[in-house]
Amino acid sequence: MKNEISFECRECGARLLKWMGRCPHCGQWNSVEEKLKSAFAKEKSAGHHGKICSVPISHISHDQSPRLSTGMSELDRVLGGGMVRKSMVLVGGDPGVGKSTLLMQALGGMSSRGEVVLYVTGEESLEQIKIRADRLGVMSESFLVVANNELEPILDLISNSGASVVALDSAQSVASHSVESYAGSVSQVRHVAAASIEVIKKSQSACFLVGHVTKDGALAGPKVLEHMVDTVLYFEGDRGYSYRVLRAVKNRFGSVSEIGVFEMTETGLSEVLNPSEFFLSERPQGESGSVVTALVEGSRPILAEIQALVCGPVPGSGRRTCLGTDPQRLSLIVAVIEKKLGLMLNDHDIFVNAVGGIRALEPAVDLGIVASIISSFSEKTIPFPSMIFGEVGLSGEVRPVMKCSERINEAIRLGYKRIIGPGKNLDAHRFTKQVKPLPVNHIRELTPILFD
Ligand code: TYD
Ligand code: MG
Repeated sequence: MKNEISFECRECGARLLKWMGRCPHCGQWNSVEEKLKSAFAKEKSAGHHGKICSVPISHISHDQSPRLSTGMSELDRVLGGGMVRKSMVLVGGDPGVGKSTLLMQALGGMSSRGEVVLYVTGEESLEQIKIRADRLGVMSESFLVVANNELEPILDLISNSGASVVALDSAQSVASHSVESYAGSVSQVRHVAAASIEVIKKSQSACFLVGHVTKDGALAGPKVLEHMVDTVLYFEGDRGYSYRVLRAVKNRFGSVSEIGVFEMTETGLSEVLNPSEFFLSERPQGESGSVVTALVEGSRPILAEIQALVCGPVPGSGRRTCLGTDPQRLSLIVAVIEKKLGLMLNDHDIFVNAVGGIRALEPAVDLGIVASIISSFSEKTIPFPSMIFGEVGLSGEVRPVMKCSERINEAIRLGYKRIIGPGKNLDAHRFTKQVKPLPVNHIRELTPILFD
């Protein structure tokens, strides 16, 4: 029995006779895993088959059938206009973020338009699925459900069900007998994905495959699934907040610059068609430390509120705390403010928060953070219709940022009349008379115009 098993590094593919904590070939830790000898033999024999021949590209016909719409415009857009038949879409995300909810709603939408859909769950019982479906209002004769963990019968069912769209929830909870390791291990996950892709490519169905992101942030087995599938979507969001972002990181049938924004409600995910309004909806009026800035997520501009709270003096050096913004950039910004504006912040605690749980990690939010710190420190309010953006350099210079016209137009659309930003960006933009551009080339120029 002993020599039935061999070991393989999933990073570099090196084969080893015994298990090691670190691969001696590529130096990666925890990448060596068990593999059956017969699996190696199978891979080898796969090399010996009959002749193959090439065809002129003009002779290849392909199915022109239209994309399948999920009925959720945010999801359709991220997919590049709906699901493509025979394609495999990986939906990755942290456990509990709402992947199953999203797919159940998407499949529900398709089934209500007459498509036969199949939802395969390896994680929940049929009763649990039913409770969720009731909550989401999914009720259709053509919505088929199966709860099972064995790959082979599931694949048989998929090929024979005649479903237009299948959801396999999740890659980690389904296992094959032909792979000798536990469900959720890298070799199992890889096998589950490869085998289901094979079935989907031969069928007329499109398939969503759920993949939980593991603790270290990678889909189980770094990159093992991403290169196999046609499309990779990540569903992101903080459990403490209701908003969720769906992002395409790979798409063979569309662009990867699209994002979809959703809100998790009592009755499932609802689409947020106006993210800026959503993030600014509870903005306090007349408070110091609050600034509106413009982020760009994919190709979509989103206005968001940045809040700063500067308190002190405190004994010793003050703490710096970030929520949703980059802590290193905050240290840099505080140092630049101290040096160039002469504000003594060393003995003050500084808290910076991107409101609503949004991630404001781009350098374009720097100037907004500077403004919010100055506003909180001096306890002065920034007049309401101002939007502030721009990257801040170490000498205090304000640098231009990408996609500036998207940011400016979004602000104008929502009624922001004062646009404070890098000189180069504002000079390049044509403003109407109602909007007042206030170019800033150095943070020194910010203070005189900020509270006017
Ligand atoms: P779920 O889709 O089960 O997450 P995943 O499949 O990514 O693990 O969603 C889990 C969370 O969503 C759970 O904490 C409850 C919440 N939720 C709602 O707030 N509203 C709803 O209508 C549903 C179905 C779930
Ligand atoms: Mg789930």
